[in-house]
Amino acid sequence: MPRPFDLLVIGDANPDVVVGPVPRAPEFGQREQLVETGRMLLGGSAAITACGAARLGLRVAFAGRVGDDAAGAFVRTVLAERGVDVSALATDPELPTPLTTVLTHGADRAILTAPGCLTATGPRDVPDRLLAASRHVHAGSFFLMPRLARSLGGIFARARGHGAATSLDTNDDPAQCWAPELLGPVLKFVDVLLPNAAEARALAAALAPASPELALASPELAPESPEGDGADIGPATAAAALARLGPLVVLKDGAAGALAHDGAVLTRTAAVPADPVDTVGAGDSFDAGFIAAVLHGLDLPAALSLAAACGALSTRAHGGTEAQPTWDEARAAALTTRPGSTA
Ligand SMILES: Nc1ncnc2c1ncn2[C@@H]1O[C@H](COP(=O)(O)OP(=O)(O)O)[C@@H](O)[C@H]1O
Ligand SMILES: [Mg+2]
Repeated sequence: MPRPFDLLVIGDANPDVVVGPVPRAPEFGQREQLVETGRMLLGGSAAITACGAARLGLRVAFAGRVGDDAAGAFVRTVLAERGVDVSALATDPELPTPLTTVLTHGADRAILTAPGCLTATGPRDVPDRLLAASRHVHAGSFFLMPRLARSLGGIFARARGHGAATSLDTNDDPAQCWAPELLGPVLKFVDVLLPNAAEARALAAALAPASPELALASPELAPESPEGDGADIGPATAAAALARLGPLVVLKDGAAGALAHDGAVLTRTAAVPADPVDTVGAGDSFDAGFIAAVLHGLDLPAALSLAAACGALSTRAHGGTEAQPTWDEARAAALTTRPGSTA
């Protein structure tokens, strides 16, 4: 029987107050500084991925939590307007909706997040009926939701039990600890891991001491190595090392494009040229593109190019969701890149 949803996205959803461009680090001392634009847009890695996937034509459901407040109502409304099913979006009776302020600076950004009810987001917010109803289950922002993180391995195992594939974009760890004891076991149930280059390096370095197999694959990651923090390893090495832990690793590398490592073969794609207004959500839109491509049955090089197109095209407007492409737009832009593979 066909499943009602192509994709279930689990994770964070919040208003992003995107302000900029900020020419330099903001000053304290009650100084008021004027910037060109400020907008309240839908944010949260998982919410941006969900909207990107819906824009690409997938049937998408969202599982997560907002507060009982105006920010929560905004999130619920915008997700629904984008065609995302929010019947499982829980309302926390006490904690507020998370709120993020994004200060943009060229291709870079500073992100301030008050996590609000993200700390309460947990396994109860992910109904089994949706795991059973979806072809693919994706989770975002692993480190912002510790209760969910502790149960994510079990959730992904259930999703796989129902025949779904799984993917994870951890995003940044604000504590910079990368919780290897928590993440390591989850990776066994992850089909596709979607870090950016900095995250991949940090994850590889954090997970290496816990995994002799990984340290063996990349001696520069061993704790006794002078480069034991992973700071000096390249993206391909980091991806190869993480692929040893199970998942296909699809690594996003900003204006340099993206690469994938499946444990044996490295595949690269150049970036689709872009002149970014801001890069908020580029990685999350990339995730949506990669998932959509795989669900459409594209091979890995084509999926990587399509995802890179989705990341690049999303930078055409402020925030994460305003400029996300349709399937046809993404396909046309992807044809301008030429992937290559090395064993
Ligand atoms: N300046 C850019 N030019 C072209 N493509 C870009 C640019 N920035 C991002 N992208 C595309 O979006 C993807 C995700 O962006 P990236 O910044 O690496 O991820 P994240 O947003 O997770 O940090 C990249 O792999 C690339 O394909
Ligand atoms: Mg990201």
